[in-house]
Amino acid sequence: MSAGQPDPNNIPRHIAIIMDGNGRWAKLRDKARIYGHHAGVEAVRKVVEACTELGVEYLTLYAFSTENWKRPEEEVNALMELLVRTIRRETPELDKNNVHIGMIGDGHSLPPACIAELEEAKKMTADNTGLNLILALSYSGRWEITHAVQQIAKDLVNGNIKPEEITEQTIADKLNTANMPEPELLIRTSGEYRLSNFLLWQTAYTEYYFTETLWPDFDKEALFNAIIDYQNRERRFGKTTEQIQVK
Ligand code: IPE
Ligand code: IPE
Ligand code: MG
Repeated sequence: MSAGQPDPNNIPRHIAIIMDGNGRWAKLRDKARIYGHHAGVEAVRKVVEACTELGVEYLTLYAFSTENWKRPEEEVNALMELLVRTIRRETPELDKNNVHIGMIGDGHSLPPACIAELEEAKKMTADNTGLNLILALSYSGRWEITHAVQQIAKDLVNGNIKPEEITEQTIADKLNTANMPEPELLIRTSGEYRLSNFLLWQTAYTEYYFTETLWPDFDKEALFNAIIDYQNRERRFGKTTEQIQVK
């Protein structure tokens, strides 16, 4: 199926993707799971390029969840190595394309080599004003919210805030995504219909798009299809159609 072009006047500012299905993609080819993760990096490159082309401001990629630490040690190690090598190899090109690299998640839990490589990439791209490419690493929504609650509790104890002063904004400001717009569109590949602990707070009014496509097969055309689908929806935010149509 050939993709139409998304309406350039209605491009989501923030797209979040649960990149799922690498293992199954490899299994279909009688290969080890890590082979699928390697192939997944190619899909990331295509999607980053397409987002840059469309003028998307934020692309948040779920690359490794808190729960993924429970996978076999061999796979976890291979994923961390792949991460280090990919960041090292891709950052100069991303920098050239004005991409700004960021991260959400429990950075401290990552291996030192990963932390160092990420820091380097963040530093190199710090002044870039194009696409914000956010990697969710050792990330989970419940971890993030728990962390935010701990920080607010400290502010309470220190007398910096009163309980009745806590608003939704107070909480949003303590999340890793503080200062980022909420995603308008969340994509999950591989035919799984769940959030798997991704961006729990931020997706309260996000449009979800599910596709059977396995992550390594996801490309620009697949992204365009997701965006076009999003553009055909009516976002009501609790209101009625009539209210939305009154400009
Ligand atoms: C997604 O692919 C990548 C990560 C979670 C790191 P999977 O590894 O989950 O692939 P499947 O779901 O087993 O096919
Ligand atoms: C979600 O995929 C996490 C990432 C894509 C990084 P999983 O493959 O870990 O999700 P579950 O376990 O099937 O829900
Ligand atoms: Mg999976």
